[in-house]
Amino acid sequence: MDDSDITRSSEWLELGEHHRAVEGRTLRELFAEDPERAGRMSVSAGELFLDYSKHRATAETVGLLVRLAERAGLRESIEKMFGGEHINVSEDRAVLHTALRLPRDAELVVDGQDVVADVHAVLDEMAAFADRVRSKEWRGATGEPIATVVNIGIGGSDLGPFMAYEALADYADAGIEARFVSNIDPADISGKLRGLDPATTLFVISSKTFTTLETLTNARVARDWLVAALGEEAVGKHFVAVSTNAEKVGAFGIDTANMFGFWDWVGGRYSFDGAIGLSLMLAVGPANFRRMLDGFHTIDEHFRNTPFEANMPVLMGLLGVWYTDFFGAQTRAVLPYSQRLHRFPAYLQQLTMESNGKSVKADGTPVTSDTGEIFWGEPGTNGQHAFYQLLHQGTRLVPADFIGFAEPHEDPAGMHDILTANLLAQTTALAFGKTAEEIAAEGTAAEIVPHKVMPGNRPTSTILAPRLTPEVLGQLVALYEHIVFVEGTVWGIDPFDQWGVELGKKMALDLAPTLTSEEPPTAFPDASTENLVRKYRQLRGR
Ligand code: F6P
Repeated sequence: MDDSDITRSSEWLELGEHHRAVEGRTLRELFAEDPERAGRMSVSAGELFLDYSKHRATAETVGLLVRLAERAGLRESIEKMFGGEHINVSEDRAVLHTALRLPRDAELVVDGQDVVADVHAVLDEMAAFADRVRSKEWRGATGEPIATVVNIGIGGSDLGPFMAYEALADYADAGIEARFVSNIDPADISGKLRGLDPATTLFVISSKTFTTLETLTNARVARDWLVAALGEEAVGKHFVAVSTNAEKVGAFGIDTANMFGFWDWVGGRYSFDGAIGLSLMLAVGPANFRRMLDGFHTIDEHFRNTPFEANMPVLMGLLGVWYTDFFGAQTRAVLPYSQRLHRFPAYLQQLTMESNGKSVKADGTPVTSDTGEIFWGEPGTNGQHAFYQLLHQGTRLVPADFIGFAEPHEDPAGMHDILTANLLAQTTALAFGKTAEEIAAEGTAAEIVPHKVMPGNRPTSTILAPRLTPEVLGQLVALYEHIVFVEGTVWGIDPFDQWGVELGKKMALDLAPTLTSEEPPTAFPDASTENLVRKYRQLRGR
């Protein structure tokens, strides 16, 4: 056997055989056969409880998937990641987001560098700065305290802090509001600046590379807005930066004394638990930020030390492989029953799809299986009134992750129990459906019965946690980070590079002058784009 090709391994082939036996079984049958099923197919990690019994899988499936993970070298890969080996092969980098949440007394030296000391030095700088801003010691150029933080960044330099700020809104206790500007669409920044007072606004320019067109363009607009109101000398009091690139930060005109750093071993989409989380820390405070880091670390330890059969990220990652490669599922819905997590699906889209959307393996050879689930979702119950119809009765198989919390932060009129009842009702209806006989027995007219049949057998995971605290948020994010890693390892790809986004960036830079030029468009790669450029220029009167 070609050792690098997991799809030709005996474990993969056995799963294929097994799939043929399982695909015709219903969840109704599986539950009827095994009264212990729900108890056996649930695990805990930190404060997270996972019920995965509503999956089209048996104990044998789990055993075979675990053997597949072992065959793929998951155990060794986990150790390589945590140990700082250069597992991001195409960029020759270590992958150490797990080090961002190591406790102060941990030890990790990578490439001759004391990583834990570096991480905590930056966390301490962030905390000192956040304390100054939150206590109103740090003031703007006119002497007023900061009321609004505007984070300017995109991708991992936006989605993580934005998602987490929204998730932890109940912990924003210093009267500091955060806003997030990402898109190069001018509507984004102008909308976010509306109503703000330059004298009380602090901009955090967040960019790992400090070369990203969207971020630098928005940062320049923000700078002009501030300078127009307060003058050039006000910039130092109203702009700080988060980056790995001190030279470019200085060149932009931000004092590098007000720059918070990180390292090339932190991927953009894995970075908001480090300095990229500065805007979050300013809003919720250093203590809550550290609570979040503890949550991340709890799941890191669970992932590293728990046998695969009881390992939450391993099980969820392997189920992702099961549906993607054996059932042919294309997508996975993530459905948080929490309005606070309304940006969580968007955040996961980058985390999962920028990581695992690859068609070559780490060694550059083509993959031989499908990779990369398409993640999408909306908070319940909004999604129920939008797209759940397709989940229940459509022709596609969409495995879904339901996420719920026992305790709300506030609960007028007992709304939270109704929210949770909806979550439970949906997973039950998806799993067990309703047969034609059951519908007919309710007196439904024969011709209407087929329309009302609920096929069921639609797989879901349910994650329950006590409350959306900083710790629990860290646990949830680390869970998905490691799910991505499990899947990427089985597929044999490098989940830590993102070369696929580069070509479009370069082409946009090449095309931009053509849109504004008075000259006839020339040298286009294709007639369609040339035609569209002409049309655009005509519409803009150029
Ligand atoms: O979209 C590509 C990407 O490189 C992401 O991986 C990254 O999170 C984002 O751009 C922003 O990059 P930067 O933080 O360097 O501005």
